[in-house]
Amino acid sequence: MKVQVCIVGGGPSGLLLSQLLHLRGIDTVVLEKYSRDHVLARIRAGVLEHGFAELMREAQCGERMDREGEIHRGFHIAHDGVLDHVDLHKHSGGSSVMVYGQTELTRDLYEARDRLGGRVVHNAADVTLHDLKSDAPYVTYRSGDQTLRVDCEFVVGADGFHGVSRKSIPADVLREYEKVYPFGWLGVLSRTKPVSPELIYVKHERGFALCSMRSQVLSRYYIQVPLTDKPEDWSDDAFWSELRRRLPLDVAARLIIGPSIEKSIAPLRSFVAEPMRYGRLFLAGDAAHIVPPTGARGLNTAASDVYYLYHALLAHYQRGDDSGLDGYSETALARVWKAQRFSWWMTTLLHRFPDRISYDDRLQQTEISYLFSSQTALRQLAENYVGLPF
Ligand code: APR
Ligand code: PHB
Repeated sequence: MKVQVCIVGGGPSGLLLSQLLHLRGIDTVVLEKYSRDHVLARIRAGVLEHGFAELMREAQCGERMDREGEIHRGFHIAHDGVLDHVDLHKHSGGSSVMVYGQTELTRDLYEARDRLGGRVVHNAADVTLHDLKSDAPYVTYRSGDQTLRVDCEFVVGADGFHGVSRKSIPADVLREYEKVYPFGWLGVLSRTKPVSPELIYVKHERGFALCSMRSQVLSRYYIQVPLTDKPEDWSDDAFWSELRRRLPLDVAARLIIGPSIEKSIAPLRSFVAEPMRYGRLFLAGDAAHIVPPTGARGLNTAASDVYYLYHALLAHYQRGDDSGLDGYSETALARVWKAQRFSWWMTTLLHRFPDRISYDDRLQQTEISYLFSSQTALRQLAENYVGLPF
């Protein structure tokens, strides 16, 4: 097979990029390691920046998102038994976020790829990248007992944190930065009405909690747990009672509980790989960087990579202008690091660190009281949460 751009990974990054390029007449194939059902069984975050929602519309994938997603103009932070409000709309100069689950968004992207007849190969095993430094890179993969070859002009590594693309960059070229937090999030999805129309981030002496949602009938809740805990250690009853203990009393009294549909523990980790380009390979999304989920930056930062790469490839194919491709790594990383900074700040602000000293506790309290006493601090929070400009 011969294509202009071979995209490794059929998660949101790879699918969105292939859809955008296809609409501009640029030929792509997506090679995905797993089946579509497997990809769509993943439960991930669900807060989209305004710029990401716009990109979904440009990709002709925004219809269901606009119908079923919810615009949120703010969220709450609970601390010391009170519920403070962050008015995103006011403090960001009129912006907001869209609450729409990543699973649904990925489903929309697959359906859009089907409608256009986009090529997505599932169950592509042993994907291997070749000759990335040449003008004629190629990718091989196995389907059953056949080895197939894709010749292309560019390879996009959108195959997530565990993918093969980043690992194809020689170790002496790649620099990796990593921070592992000493706790995880235990998440529960339940078919119940969310406790609040807007998200509630909770700082509590027993640990962080988050009340989120996928719709008005589907709630998503999280509690901070030690890394040694396993989901099977937590019965539904134990989860609900621990969540209740961390919520302000009036919120806890309103909490509607039900059986969990999904229960899992996610570790909290920050990671950045530099550079995001090696020869004709361009990394995008989780393949190059991950953040702890606290600031809801993961999917949104993947979308900003896609935005930069899409425009860089368009400039290359439409005008022979390679400045976007040449500057991609630097441009994308500048925004990636700002998302890292914001996720680190929100994580540090709201979690209980096992190795903290009393000085850290007082600083954390002071950070919260400063935040809600300063319009400037709230502006900073809002500007980052709704998404920095691309
Ligand atoms: N070959 C082909 N595909 C692969 C390989 C491989 N060797 N390894 C992984 N993949 C596939 C995965 O199965 C997955 O479907 O690549 C896809 C990567 O998707 P994601 O992990 O969702 O990453 P990405 O598309 O960058 O999505 C952005 O940001 O913080 C997160 O939750 C957020 O998952 C979201 C991500
Ligand atoms: C979620 O709904 O899963 C979610 C929302 C906001 C976050 C993290 C996760 O910051």
